[in-house]
Parts: sequence; structure tokens; C-alpha cells
Amino acid sequence: MKRKLFYLGLFCTVIFLPAQSLLADDQCISCHTNTVGDKQSELFKHDIHFKKGISCADCHGGNSKLEDMDAAMNPKEGFIGVPKGDNISKTCAHCHADPEKMKKYGSSLPTNQWESLQSSVHGKLSTTGKEHITQCVTCHDSHGIVSVKNSASPVFPLNVVKTCTKCHANASFMQTYNPAMPVDQLDKYRTSVHGVRNRNGDPKPAQCASCHGSHDIRGIKDVKSSVYATNIPTTCSKCHSNAEYMKQYKIPTDQYEKFARSEHGKALLQKHDVGAPACNDCHGNHGATPPGVESVSKVCGTCHALNADLFSSSPHKKAFDERKLPECETCHSNHEIVAATDKLLGVGSEAVCSRCHQTNQNVKGYAVAKTMRSLIDSLEFMEQNAEMLVNESEQRGMEISEAKFKLRDVRQARLQSRTMVHSFNEQKFHDVVGKGMTAASIVQGEAQASIDEYYFRRKGLGVATLIITIFTISLYLYIRRLERKQNKKVI
Ligand code: HEC
Ligand code: HEC
Ligand code: HEC
Ligand code: HEC
Ligand code: HEC
Ligand code: HEC
Ligand code: HEC
Ligand code: HEC
Ligand code: HEC
Ligand code: HEC
Ligand code: HEC
Repeated sequence: MKRKLFYLGLFCTVIFLPAQSLLADDQCISCHTNTVGDKQSELFKHDIHFKKGISCADCHGGNSKLEDMDAAMNPKEGFIGVPKGDNISKTCAHCHADPEKMKKYGSSLPTNQWESLQSSVHGKLSTTGKEHITQCVTCHDSHGIVSVKNSASPVFPLNVVKTCTKCHANASFMQTYNPAMPVDQLDKYRTSVHGVRNRNGDPKPAQCASCHGSHDIRGIKDVKSSVYATNIPTTCSKCHSNAEYMKQYKIPTDQYEKFARSEHGKALLQKHDVGAPACNDCHGNHGATPPGVESVSKVCGTCHALNADLFSSSPHKKAFDERKLPECETCHSNHEIVAATDKLLGVGSEAVCSRCHQTNQNVKGYAVAKTMRSLIDSLEFMEQNAEMLVNESEQRGMEISEAKFKLRDVRQARLQSRTMVHSFNEQKFHDVVGKGMTAASIVQGEAQASIDEYYFRRKGLGVATLIITIFTISLYLYIRRLERKQNKKVI
């Protein structure tokens, strides 16, 4: 027992000796701890800088070897007092932006914080116009700084939310910068799976800094922002595609992979079409929860309004609700939405309808699916035929622009019919397809007529050419005869 205590004592001495001796040598710390007894020196005992042998004087200047207060804190000794404004961050940058200096302390931390901060949205000038909006100490505090991985750090995942929202949930403060800036991020965040878990002490789910960054936070409209539409999938996938990181939650980690392959993903990531949804368009920004059965069609319906309206008044609405099936996702999936083609319709093996409608199951729907498919196939066939005739007529140089223009009506009807599928109503579908078929047969008729006319004209032209030829030959012969007659007279 005694032995154990001895070793414990030795252990403590070894650990605390350097700090203790530092305390003894360093007059700033010594006087401030023992004589002044201020909060700063109290906090500083746990400070990572203190543990690295850094003194008050390394930030405040002055001479830490001198016992006399006035001598130690003399501006001639480099004492700067309490740094204000941008000088605060410059004090920190003095080391943190200097790789050589940091190396001397045995640190391999990045040294870009000051540079990043200046070019970030928080690097704009504050309302006083004299300094940046945030300084290093706004997020890290100035004394009692610990490693960012320490759960006591104000930027530790469980605390960072509070650190950011001391400004971002403060309406009167934010108003002085940008009256249009919402201040509801915290409220919304707390309703999300991320926010609820964070509140319950789980540091792994996303918090403010995992989506926005820390020193390099940019305005959300900035294309370099981690939450700009085209960058969002990568931002979310840092965690959601990391099987190891997500292991304990037992949810799939294939969302990015599937999304990137989908029509939405291709449009957003390859064509940079910001009209296509990124993860947050369906899951919300701060309320990142899976859209529940109730809200899925609302989510899709924000962009595909017509499809959603039709679905709502279709027979599937009630049938799906009763079975707790999500409205759009049941047929289209959520992350891997493939191009919608006619193949999805009907009763063939690739058709979605045949998953639930068979000759012995939900029979009426089976019949309707079959009819719808044959209608849309017929329309497509007629459209192709009309197009072919128009092309043929055009190649023969006929004036066919009017019929060609009408082809648009056919195409329009075909596109409309693809949307009208979602009425799951044979009559309504028939009406749209019917309009297309009527237009197609008019175009077919006009194109055929113009081709016929071409041949008719060609026949006519042949006859006319023959007549003219005969006439020309006759004329020639007649002239020759006249000439001969005249020649004879002359002789
Ligand atoms: C012998 C005691 C003593 C020593 C040594 C000493 N200080 Fe102080 N320091 C004080 C006292 C007392 C005050 C409060 C003075 C006041 O309120 O005007 C003070 C104030 C300060 C302040 C706040 C100034 C302000 O304007 O509010 C800073 C910063 C400071 N000291 C840093 C240092 C540093 C750095 C060193 C070492 C280079 C140091 N002190 C050495 C006693 C000391
Ligand atoms: C890592 C740099 C750093 C170290 C080391 C440091 N300080 Fe400071 N200190 C600051 C900064 C930055 C401020 C201004 C903070 C602010 O405005 O929030 C400050 C402010 C102060 C103030 C004024 C507080 C006030 O509210 O006006 C005192 C007093 C002070 N420090 C004392 C000390 C003492 C004593 C030590 C050593 C035990 C020390 N500091 C070590 C960076 C440091
Ligand atoms: C808007 C808040 C904010 C400001 C301002 C800020 N930081 Fe940070 N800082 C963070 C967050 C959040 C982290 C944690 C990042 C992480 O876990 O990846 C961090 C991490 C760090 C780290 C750990 C290494 C690293 O880069 O991740 C250092 C060192 C650091 N900050 C220094 C600074 C310095 C120096 C300044 C001023 C130039 C500063 N910070 C300004 C929020 C801030
Ligand atoms: C004299 C040099 C020096 C100054 C000045 C300085 N630091 Fe540090 N800082 C260090 C060193 C060295 C470390 C330890 C790095 C390590 O453990 O790799 C450190 C660590 C940190 C960490 C913890 C990083 C981690 O490991 O997670 C933060 C946060 C931090 N400093 C913020 C600040 C802030 C804020 C200021 C200004 C108020 C400041 N530092 C001023 C040298 C300095
Ligand atoms: C899961 C990722 C994620 C988390 C966590 C997150 N944000 Fe956001 N944040 C976003 C996205 C995405 C946007 C909006 C981008 C857009 O509209 O183009 C956004 C927008 C913002 C905006 C701009 C104003 C607005 O509301 O549209 C602010 C400010 C903001 N976030 C702050 C925060 C704060 C503070 C926290 C922590 C409480 C936080 N965010 C947590 C992803 C996130
Ligand atoms: C000192 C108060 C303060 C703190 C702390 C702070 N911010 Fe900000 N932040 C602002 C202000 C002010 C703006 C608005 C700048 C502007 O547009 O004029 C802003 C802008 C933003 C924006 C851009 C919003 C947009 O509309 O484009 C995001 C994102 C953001 N902050 C996220 C964060 C995160 C994440 C944290 C915590 C790591 C944080 N902020 C900490 C004050 C703060
Ligand atoms: C820092 C890592 C991290 C980031 C970044 C992140 N998430 Fe998460 N997310 C998690 C963790 C961990 C969970 C908790 C899983 C659980 O409870 O099922 C989660 C849960 C979710 C859930 C709920 C899943 C469920 O069914 O429970 C959704 C939806 C979600 N995240 C979407 C997003 C979106 C969208 C983004 C990007 C805007 C994002 N996440 C960014 C880590 C992250
Ligand atoms: C077009 C809308 C949409 C987009 C875009 C989208 N999601 Fe989803 N996500 C959903 C729907 C719908 C669900 C399923 C909800 C349910 O079953 O209740 C879901 C479920 C999830 C879940 C829960 C686990 C799972 O796989 O079922 C996570 C995590 C998730 N999405 C993350 C993401 C990420 C990360 C992205 C971007 C790469 C993304 N989502 C893009 C609609 C979308
Ligand atoms: C933010 C708007 C937006 C949201 C939300 C959205 N989409 Fe889309 N969707 C688009 C855009 C834009 C395209 C066209 C992509 C392209 O082909 O260029 C598209 C394409 C599609 C396609 C392929 C269409 C075709 O002609 O092949 C289907 C199917 C689809 N979305 C279904 C859904 C479903 C289901 C949801 C909900 C889970 C959803 N969308 C949510 C914008 C959105
Ligand atoms: C019962 C299955 C089913 C459901 C439920 C369903 N769709 Fe479709 N959807 C289809 C089929 C089949 C097609 C392809 C039609 C074609 O091309 O012939 C399609 C095509 C589409 C298209 C491309 C055609 C167009 O309108 O531009 C979009 C977008 C679309 N669906 C969105 C949605 C949305 C949004 C929902 C939910 C409100 C939804 N779908 C629900 C079966 C379904
Ligand atoms: C997830 C299963 C499912 C899929 C996929 C599905 N249906 Fe249905 N459908 C149903 C159910 C369930 C009913 C209600 C049957 C009942 O009440 O008898 C229904 C009803 C219908 C009805 C109304 C029948 C009536 O009794 O009036 C039509 C029409 C219909 N479906 C067409 C389609 C078409 C076309 C497709 C493919 C684009 C399709 N369905 C895909 C499950 C599905």
C-alpha cells in the first residue's frame, strides 16, 4: 500500500513538476496566481498553452522574469496589455500561422486558421467597421483553452452548437448585419435526428461545423461553400458513406453512391443543374430527418407539382395510405431515381405496375396498366410515323413547316401523358393520348398529301416537259424549213 502511494506521489511529481517549476520561474503567472488571483490565471492552469510552457507574456508581451509588477508589465519590455479587435487574432496567429514556431513546440497542427478565417464569411468587417466579425477567441475563448478533441472545448461537437448560436440564434444581433438572415437554425436543428442525438450526448452526428466548416465558413450562395448545392452530397457523404463511422447506427451507407447514379445526381453533379435536388432539398438543411411517409410526396411535389397533384386524386392515394406506402418512392425509389421511361408502365417484367397488379391480384389495375402502355406505345408509333413522313416531304423540298410545327403538339401530348400516368385513371390518360393521336394523324395526313403532291407535280412536270420538248422540236423544224425556203429564194 505504502509502495503504491509512493509511486503515485512520484508519478504526480513527474507530471506536475514542469508546470510547478514554470509557475515558480514565471513572474507573470506567479504574481497573477498568488497575488492578483484573477480568473484568467485560474483558467490558465488547465490551458493547453500552459502545458506547452507558454506564458502570459507570449500573448500579452512583457518580461516574465521580472518580479516587479511595473517592470514586468512595461511597454518597453514589449507589454501590449489586453489585445483588442483584430490584434486578438493576430496574437494567436503569431504562433498558429507560423509553421516553424509551431514545430518548435512539437506541434503538427495545420497553420491555416488565420488565413482561412480572413477569407471566410466571418472575416467580413463587423458593424464597427474596424475588425472582423469573429476573432479566434470568439469560438475558442482566450484562457483555459484545451484541445478541440477535449469534451470541455467550446468547439467540441457537443458544445459547438452553443458557440455558433450565441450569435446565430440572437435575432437582435444578427439583424444589425443582415435583417433577412434567419435565426432559426438552432430550433430546427433540435428537431432533427442529428440535433436530438447531439443533445443526448452523441458527438458523431452532424453539428454546425461538420456541415459548414470551422475557419473557412462561406456564405451559402458562394460556390465554394460546403453547403452550396453541388457540394452538399460530398459534405453529407463524409459521414454517410463512411461505413466504419456509421457502423453503430445500422443504417445504409449507400445514399451518395445511389444518388450519384440517379437522374437527380447526374443533373446536379454532372450538368451542374442546381434545379435538381441535393440531399438537403429532400431532407432539409437543419431539420435533416428522413422525410416520413407523410412528407415524401410533399418533398417531391415541391418540384414535381403536377405529378403530386395527380397522385393525390388518384385511386392509389387511398390504397397507398392504407398500406403506409410512401407515395412516389414506392415506384421511383428515393436515392436511385432512374430515368422514367415507358418501360416502367404496363405489365411487362420491367414495369412497376406488375409488382402489385397481376392477373390474379388487383386485377382492374392490371387491365388499366396494360391499356395505358398500349396507348402510349401507339402514340409513340404514330409520332414516329408522322415525323418520318414530314422528313421525307422536307427532303423533297416541299413546304411543310406548318405540319412540322404541329408535330410539337404530338410531342407535347406524349410528355403530358407520361405525367398523366399518375392519375392512374384510364379515361384521363386516354384523353391526353387521344389529343396526341389526333394531332399525329393530322400531321401524317398533311405530310402524306404533300408527298403525293410532289409526285403529282413530278408527273405533271414530265408531261409539261414532253409538251415543251415536242413544241421546241417542232419549232426548230419549222424554223429550219423556213430558213431552207428563204435560202432557195435567195438562190
Ligand atoms: C507583481 C505582480 C505582477 C506581475 C509580476 C505581473 N502582473 Fe500583470 N497585473 C498585476 C496586477 C495587480 C494587475 C491589475 C492592474 C490593474 O488592474 O490596473 C495586472 C494586470 C495585468 C493585465 C491586465 C491589464 C489591463 O489593462 O487590464 C494583463 C494582461 C497582465 N497583467 C499581464 C501580465 C503579464 C503578461 C505579466 C508578465 C510579463 C504580468 N502581468 C506580470 C500584477 C502583476
Ligand atoms: C494564448 C494567449 C494568451 C495567454 C497565454 C494569456 N492570455 Fe490573457 N488574454 C488573451 C487575450 C486574447 C485577451 C483578450 C480576450 C478577450 O477580449 O476576450 C486576454 C485578456 C486578459 C485579461 C483582461 C481580461 C479582461 O476582461 O479585460 C487579463 C487580466 C489577462 N488576459 C491575463 C492573463 C494572464 C495573467 C495570463 C497568464 C496566466 C494570460 N492572460 C495568458 C490572450 C492570452
Ligand atoms: C467561427 C468559430 C471559429 C473561429 C472564429 C476560429 N475557430 Fe478554430 N476551430 C473552430 C472549430 C469548430 C474547430 C474544430 C474543427 C474540427 O473539429 O475539425 C476549430 C479548430 C481549431 C484548431 C485545431 C486544429 C484545426 O485547425 O482543426 C486550432 C489550432 C484553431 N482552431 C485555432 C484557431 C485560431 C488560431 C483562430 C483565429 C485565427 C481560430 N481557430 C478561429 C472554430 C473556430
Ligand atoms: C506562443 C505560441 C502560441 C500562441 C500565441 C497561441 N497558441 Fe494556441 N497553441 C500553441 C501550441 C504550441 C499549441 C499546442 C499544439 C499541439 O498540441 O499540437 C496550441 C494549441 C491551441 C489549441 C488546441 C488545438 C488542438 O490541439 O486541438 C487551440 C484551440 C489554440 N491553441 C488556440 C489559440 C488561440 C485562440 C490563441 C490566441 C488567443 C492562441 N492559440 C495563441 C501555440 C500558441
Ligand atoms: C446537416 C448539415 C447542416 C448542419 C448540421 C447545420 N447546417 Fe446550417 N445550413 C446547411 C445547409 C444545407 C444550408 C442551406 C444552404 C442553401 O440554402 O443553399 C444551411 C444554411 C445555414 C445558414 C444560412 C441561413 C439559413 O438558415 O439558410 C446559417 C446561418 C447556418 N446554416 C448556420 C448553422 C448553424 C448555426 C448550425 C448549428 C446549429 C447549422 N447551420 C447546422 C446545412 C447544415
Ligand atoms: C460573433 C458572432 C458569430 C459567431 C460566433 C458565428 N457566426 Fe456565423 N455569422 C455571423 C454573422 C454576423 C454573419 C453574417 C455575415 C454577413 O453576411 O454579413 C455570419 C454568417 C454565417 C454564415 C453564412 C450565412 C449566409 O447567409 O450565407 C454561416 C453558414 C455561418 N455564419 C455559420 C456559422 C457557424 C457554423 C458558426 C460556429 C462554428 C458561426 N457561424 C459562428 C456571426 C457569427
Ligand atoms: C458528421 C457526420 C455527419 C454529417 C456531415 C451528416 N450526417 Fe446525417 N447523420 C449522421 C449520424 C451519425 C446520424 C445518426 C444515424 C441514426 O441515428 O440513424 C445521422 C442521421 C441522419 C439522418 C436520419 C437517418 C435515420 O434514418 O435515422 C438523415 C436523413 C441524415 N443524417 C441526413 C444527412 C444529410 C442530408 C446530411 C448533409 C446535409 C448529413 N446527414 C450530414 C452523421 C452525419
Ligand atoms: C429526392 C429526394 C432525396 C434526395 C435528393 C436524397 N434523399 Fe435521402 N431519403 C429520401 C427519402 C424519401 C428517404 C426515405 C425515408 C423513409 O423511408 O421514410 C431517404 C432516406 C435517407 C436516409 C436514411 C437511411 C436510408 O438510406 O434509408 C439517409 C441517411 C439519407 N436519406 C441521406 C441522404 C444523403 C446523404 C443524400 C445526398 C447524397 C440524400 N439522402 C439525398 C429522399 C432523398
Ligand atoms: C429540387 C427539385 C426536385 C425535387 C425535390 C425532386 N426532383 Fe425529381 N427531378 C428534378 C429535376 C430538375 C429533374 C430533371 C433532371 C434531368 O433529367 O435533367 C428531375 C427528374 C426526376 C425524374 C426523372 C424524370 C424523367 O423524365 O426521366 C423522376 C422520376 C423524379 N425526378 C422523381 C422524383 C421523386 C420521386 C422525388 C421525391 C423523392 C423528386 N423527384 C424530388 C427536380 C426535383
Ligand atoms: C404506381 C407507380 C408510380 C407512382 C406511385 C409514381 N410514379 Fe412517377 N412515374 C411512373 C411511371 C410508370 C412513369 C413513366 C411514364 C412513362 O414514361 O411512360 C413515371 C414518370 C414520372 C416522371 C417523369 C415524367 C414526367 O412527369 O415528367 C416524374 C417526374 C415522376 N414520375 C414523378 C413522380 C412523383 C413526384 C410521384 C409522387 C407524387 C410519382 N412519380 C409517383 C410511376 C409512378
Ligand atoms: C405498390 C403496389 C402498387 C403498384 C406498384 C401499382 N399499384 Fe395500382 N393499385 C394498387 C392497389 C393496392 C390498388 C387498390 C386496389 C383495390 O382497392 O382493389 C391499386 C389500384 C389501381 C387502380 C384502380 C383500380 C380500381 O379498382 O379502380 C389503377 C387504375 C391502378 N392501380 C393502376 C396502376 C398502374 C398503371 C400502375 C403502374 C404504373 C400501378 N397501378 C402500380 C397497388 C399498386
